[in-house]
Amino acid sequence: MKIDVLLGLQWGDEGKGKVVDVLTPQYDIIARFQGGPNAGHTIEFDNKKFVLHTIPSGIFNEGTINVIGNGVIIDPFILKKEITTLEDSNINIRKKLLVSRKAHLILPTHRLLDSVYETAKGKDKIGSTLKGIGPCYTDKISRNGIRVGNIESDKFIEIYNKSRERHLKIIEQYNPDYKEIKIDGKDFLEYEKSWHEALKVLNSLKKVDSEYYLNQQMEAGKKILAEGAQGTLLDIDFGSYPFVTSSNTTTAGVCIGLGIAPKNIGNVYGIFKAYCTRVGSGPFPTELFDEDGDNLRKVGNEFGSTTGRPRRCGWLDIPALKYAIMLNGVTELMMMKSDVMNQFKKIKVANSYMYKGEETSELPFDDGNNVTTPVYETIPGWGSDLTIASNYYDLPCDLKNYVKYIEDKVGVPIKLVSYGPDRSETIIR
Ligand code: GDP
Ligand code: IMO
Ligand code: MG
Repeated sequence: MKIDVLLGLQWGDEGKGKVVDVLTPQYDIIARFQGGPNAGHTIEFDNKKFVLHTIPSGIFNEGTINVIGNGVIIDPFILKKEITTLEDSNINIRKKLLVSRKAHLILPTHRLLDSVYETAKGKDKIGSTLKGIGPCYTDKISRNGIRVGNIESDKFIEIYNKSRERHLKIIEQYNPDYKEIKIDGKDFLEYEKSWHEALKVLNSLKKVDSEYYLNQQMEAGKKILAEGAQGTLLDIDFGSYPFVTSSNTTTAGVCIGLGIAPKNIGNVYGIFKAYCTRVGSGPFPTELFDEDGDNLRKVGNEFGSTTGRPRRCGWLDIPALKYAIMLNGVTELMMMKSDVMNQFKKIKVANSYMYKGEETSELPFDDGNNVTTPVYETIPGWGSDLTIASNYYDLPCDLKNYVKYIEDKVGVPIKLVSYGPDRSETIIR
């Protein structure tokens, strides 16, 4: 049995959490493979709403095991808050959450480093979530990181202090008053104390060598779904660098972030919104600065699940979608937030770009100086409500035409259409 993958094809926030939750009853194991608490995955059911940052979105199903893989980076303080919220809602995570010993820890000083680096970038800032993602992955790659498996070591405090001192030397150069930088509303030392307390909660969870666990479960015939965070256009290699995150958000990241051989990758479910959004800085060719953009933001409630920041909104970008499908080997598409487009009698779709005076359907290398202008086609919108839709055939003709239009352009079938945030507002074709 191969491992299926579900990941975002745009700039994140496509609705991955919702769909993982919808698909979870079909799986024995859900495993996050990269990213950290920069992610915010929203799940809504029974008039309840949860936002998960580190814990996989399969946690609400009784029989499913959830694995935080080696490619994920964990902030114990944020994880503890997540666990408390779930336990307060009577969701017992202890029996069904496993953490890789090889996952790296986000230290309080990673948060400070993120903050001083971002401030120093001035107008060129990435728009990071400031969760310490870049500095933590930097330490991992430069072989200075601390992993979950190290918590059990007698030498943990020694290892921790060594990193702390090394980081503080850098931080002081950027900002001698670093102690005044607030982390989640707390002073550094206060936050650090809470972080160490939260480490005990992380240490109390069941730890595994997740690469062995997942491969053994796969061989035993268990069904596993890998859950991505962020989106393809935020990938460290293929996204709009440097306005990206610090991990591989693409299917290749599953091999690295869970220890799965490429030959064992099965279906790849690619999720996209019926339009585009982006939070943070960086190029966004189809971004709208007009009333249509404001309406998408308002109707789509496009405000960040992690930071609350307003998301930039724009029309669907087919060249970018095709690029993401190519990089990930997407086998099935899932279109989210169709209901947000109900308002439009006409919809624009970008099919190519003008770049340096020439038309292209490829994303050009971006050096930050050249503007890509989308070439749009205008197609009919459906301009009507979808709340009564119970199966695909009930959907308005122009919505089905939009689905068909996209399928024809990208050559991959759209197997799921989502028309509301709730678990139930989903049509599987
Ligand atoms: P993720 O990071 O990919 O899991 O996505 P987020 O949770 O950050 O953002 C998606 C937002 O859209 C959340 O608030 C979801 O509740 C909401 N959402 C998901 N699917 C739909 C949909 O089909 N329609 C509407 N209106 N909202 C949706
Ligand atoms: P989910 O999993 C949307 C964006 C940030 C910033 C850039 C770098 O919920 O889809 P980082 O904190 O990684 O240093 O930020 O990436 N970003 C996201 N945008 N959804 C996410 O995750 C994101 N995670 C990071 O806004 O532009
Ligand atoms: Mg999100």
